[in-house]
Amino acid sequence: MTENKYNTSMLKNNALEDKVILITGGGTGLGKAMCRYFSELGAKVIISSRKIDVLKKTAEEISSQTKNEVFPFACDVVDYKQVEMLLKSSLEKFGKVDALVNNAAGNFISPTERLSNRAFDVIVNIVLKGTYNCTLAFGKHWIESKHKAAVLNIVTTYAWTGSAFVVPSAAAKAGVLAITRSLAVEWAKYGIRFNAIAPGLFPTKGAWERLLPGNLQDQFDFSKKVPLQRVGDHQELANLAAYLISDFSSFINGEVITIDGGEWLNGAGQFNLLQTISNEQWDDIEKKVRGVKGS
Ligand code: HXC
Ligand code: NAP
Repeated sequence: MTENKYNTSMLKNNALEDKVILITGGGTGLGKAMCRYFSELGAKVIISSRKIDVLKKTAEEISSQTKNEVFPFACDVVDYKQVEMLLKSSLEKFGKVDALVNNAAGNFISPTERLSNRAFDVIVNIVLKGTYNCTLAFGKHWIESKHKAAVLNIVTTYAWTGSAFVVPSAAAKAGVLAITRSLAVEWAKYGIRFNAIAPGLFPTKGAWERLLPGNLQDQFDFSKKVPLQRVGDHQELANLAAYLISDFSSFINGEVITIDGGEWLNGAGQFNLLQTISNEQWDDIEKKVRGVKGS
């Protein structure tokens, strides 16, 4: 069997040289994985979130490995004034921004009737308002300065199916998907592309502690829902993200790429649960079905 290289670097080393990329929520989890890879590929990366200590630690760790500058900047994406400061500081630091990755998110599992209205607001604000705040501030700047750019939004597969117990997140991610597809058309004339990634299961501390707390992970083995029978590796998501913000994907616009090992479709197909039927059982079933005559 040939070696599967999914967890290794996909693009050539200088693929993102000269690019300046902002990743919201870039200090942890998948944002950190993208930051590391973009930096390895030669990009200057700005990472922002609410916790400056976390950002600084990530920036130091990554820039010392890649020798490319990573700029940490504290910004709550819910506050438009802070987002405008983030834009101003990014431009002062690097002179331009070529790509925005709307990755920051908030989420936790809960029966919806247990949520206060504030809890609902908090999630929707981080995910949806945070995305449109950053998109609007950076978009206005790009349009005014005639700078071509790429936006990558991180959604979820339940952005289109919905999901019980994460309703504020599902509603907000559906909104982010709508922004992606709408602005892909509206702002194409300014040279601004919009795409999204819908990740399946990618273990991160932030997500797992809030979505699979305690022994929930053992009680419901979510990876069993994945036809490819594994969870995602951070590098394979970073590979896809790097491609989508790079010039190599210049003709891809308004697309949402699912990277989930087939998980959501497995839940959708009517007969998918027949996967567990053995060959012997199929022999028997075939005989019975062939034996059916008339209606
Ligand atoms: C019910 C809860 C709750 C819970 C918080 N709240 N946790 N309600 N059940 N488990 C309520 C609080 O009581 C409060 O309402 C309101 O929510 C806001 O809580 P705060 O703690 O004040 O908010 P804040 O400090 O802003 O923190 C936001 C947060 C937190 C979203 C609650 O978890 C956070 O900072 N998350 C950021 C990182 C994150 O969530 N990462 C996971 C992304 S994973 P009241 O009314 O009492 O004031 C993801 C993957 C999806 O999106 C797909 C996976 C397959
Ligand atoms: P994570 O590590 O918790 O990342 C979320 C980040 O968002 C944190 O760095 C957090 O930093 C930041 N953030 C939260 N609120 C913010 C705010 N108001 N302003 C600015 N930054 C804020 O979780 P993750 O798993 O890597 O998730 C990354 C993205 O992938 C999210 O969009 C998530 O929905 C998506 N996703 C993940 C999975 C998965 O399996 N992991 C699956 C599908 C989709 P601070 O706390 O410092 O602000």
